[in-house]
Amino acid sequence: MDINLIQETIEDDLANLNSISDLEDVRIKYLGRKGLVAQLTSVIPTLAIQERGVFGKKVNALKNKITTLIQEKEKSLKVQVDSSQTNDLDIGMPGIARGLGTRHPITQIIDEVCAIFTRMGFSVVAGPEIETEYNNFTGLNIPLEHPSRDAFDTFYLKDYTKMLLRSHTSPVQVRVMKARKPPLAIVVPGRVYRPDAVDASHLFMFHQIEGFLVDKFIRFSDLKGILGLFAKNIFDRDIKMRFRPHFFPFTEPSVEVDISCIICKGQGCSVCGRKGWLEILGAGMIHPNVFKQVGYNPNKYTGFAFGMGIERIAMLKYGINDIRLFFENDLRFLRQF
Ligand code: PHE
Repeated sequence: MDINLIQETIEDDLANLNSISDLEDVRIKYLGRKGLVAQLTSVIPTLAIQERGVFGKKVNALKNKITTLIQEKEKSLKVQVDSSQTNDLDIGMPGIARGLGTRHPITQIIDEVCAIFTRMGFSVVAGPEIETEYNNFTGLNIPLEHPSRDAFDTFYLKDYTKMLLRSHTSPVQVRVMKARKPPLAIVVPGRVYRPDAVDASHLFMFHQIEGFLVDKFIRFSDLKGILGLFAKNIFDRDIKMRFRPHFFPFTEPSVEVDISCIICKGQGCSVCGRKGWLEILGAGMIHPNVFKQVGYNPNKYTGFAFGMGIERIAMLKYGINDIRLFFENDLRFLRQF
């Protein structure tokens, strides 16, 4: 057995293999108990004494050489395995798109309505959803025995009989007027609560925007002008409005305001119940009794107030026929806005 030949063959063997298990076979072939190196070692005792030392050293050197070659091959095979795994990285591949949320349609309408009024000089104010019975009713000229409490009489807090979930945003009129002096031009978006049975057009909770303006010499015509501008901005330039006499305890005179049906343009369709008109809000001139409650002199100041349901505006604007859709968190619905 020629030591030089063995060294050449191991180099060939290593160059041609590609896996750790093939490498193990090569290791056994050379370094195993019956391997080539072991065979060479077993020859040593048969040699003449003076030859043993030189031959022994050569065998040892060969063994060390083979061991190093195998270790190096093992390292390079492992590096190849690692990099073949990371080769899956494709830096040209498109990234993972993050789903960007949008504002809820109710929030969009609130923002839109508030923007229209702030352009006309109104400021936006918020009030609490848990209100005093006084602000929700008495301060708004709805005394304890007044029949108009019925429709609103709402969720009272168990241990605070004088506290309730507000049934409209009008109590914020009382809060703001008690805290500030005229001139006032305010809009108030927020949630309100009513003991209504749930159906396609009613919920126990919905959103309103209240608006009010108080100063010297404010007239009903100012109310008409402001609401007319609002309707044209939120719906359509050629929308028509009409004012129907109505009753609210906190305004006098009071009106309900209709717009010409945005679906059939006043011709009559199923959305407007063949009337050609859609009711969108309640309004009126602030009642002198409300001014007295908040400490304003009703002979000095006049003002108007209005309140509208946000869901109703959104349903008309987007052609939605069931109010419950807004609060089911169904992404198929919400993604459309
Ligand atoms: N608060 C009334 C309601 O909820 C709406 C309204 C507000 C009417 C302001 C007149 C003036 O029905």
